[in-house]
Formats: sequence, structure tokens, C-alpha cells
Amino acid sequence: MKLRYFGHSAFQITTNQGIKILIDPFLTDNALSPVKGSEVEADYIILTHAHGDHVGDTVEIASRCGATVICNFELGNILAEEGLKVHQMQIGGAYNFEFGRVKLTIAHHGSSYPDGRYGGEPAGVILNIEEVTLYHSGDTGLFYDMKLIGEMNKIDYLMIPIGDNFTMGIDDAIVAVGFINPKVTIPIHFNTFPVIENDPQEFKRKLESVNKQCRVLYYGEEITI
Ligand code: NI
Ligand code: MN
Repeated sequence: MKLRYFGHSAFQITTNQGIKILIDPFLTDNALSPVKGSEVEADYIILTHAHGDHVGDTVEIASRCGATVICNFELGNILAEEGLKVHQMQIGGAYNFEFGRVKLTIAHHGSSYPDGRYGGEPAGVILNIEEVTLYHSGDTGLFYDMKLIGEMNKIDYLMIPIGDNFTMGIDDAIVAVGFINPKVTIPIHFNTFPVIENDPQEFKRKLESVNKQCRVLYYGEEITI
């Protein structure tokens, strides 16, 4: 399968069967994203929480493509009111979709919709797709249960925030990687706004000094995993 990074927390997964899955597609209003919302396609959109820098272009993309939005129950109610097809889940639950398995985990953060409506609890997402396990932690601070997540799942790719201020910063993210023990870590949620400026190369250097593999993806980069 292919994994493409658009900056911030946004990714596109394209399975070997050609199913397209977007995660947190904040594109049009992200000056660093190489694409606008109108330039991507999706069969599924997975949302970690209801903040604007994660819901992003979901309504436009899902309306145009007929995509199913996978998210928590309360955010799902809001998006269903917008006319979208939703699959609602909650933390601790998993479901087998045609492309693979999705499980929501805890995340310590907020989750109001941009208009102030309650958007449910924020989450991280564990994906099992074509024998590869990915853990997109969403926006979160460091928490000790990451150790349990790492013990229960052999994580191949970890996407973890390093921008600080709204989420963990570099040093906490390094502790998180120690808990989760993934094969490869991809830093996210940095440099999009001045308040979350941080250096992914510093994160990479620090991880490599403790023998952990880190891949800093450039905006728009697509890798085969
Ligand atoms: Ni957030
Ligand atoms: Mn965010």
C-alpha cells in the first residue's frame, strides 16, 4: 500500500486494491499542504477529533466522493446532519472494514467542532491494513497507556505529534516512542502554525541516538509501506 503525507496530521493511504483512505484531511486552509481539498479523492475519511485542523475539508471531499467518514459518535452526528455517510465508533472499539481493521484509542486533548458544538472525545487510531499496523495517535499529550498499546499491537508505523503547545513536544514524543516501540516513527503536527514550530530533524536525531528509526516525510511525499 501507499502512504502519502500532506503536512500537519493529514495522510492518504491507498491500498493495493485501490481503496483510498484519508486521515484528518486539513488541506485547503493549510498553507503547507501541496494539495487542496478539491484535488484529493477518498472512499473513507478517518477523523481523530472534531477540531478544524483535523476535520478540515471533510465535508467537501466526502460530499463529492460519497466517502464514508469514520469517527466518534458525537462528531458523526454532526457530520450526518451535514448529509455525510458516517460510521460511528467509540474509544476501545474496533471494526473490520473492507480495507482492514480500525480501532480507536484514547488521546488526551479536546474535541469541539469549529462552531463550538461538542465533538465527542478525541482519539488515536490503530489501523491494520494488508498486514501493516499503523498507529496515528491524533492530537495528544503523553500517556502511560501507550505502553499497553505498544504491547498489544506490533506497530509498524507510528504517526506522533511533536509540535508542543497543543500536543506533546519532542522530548515527550521520544518517551512515547519508547513506550510504543514502533518499527518507524513519523513526526506530525509541527510547523503548521507559529505556535507549534519545532524541528523534526532534531526529533529524528534524538530518536536515532537511542537506535529508533524515524522518517521525516516532506509535504506531499508518498512512500510504499
Ligand atoms: Ni486538536
Ligand atoms: Mn490539531
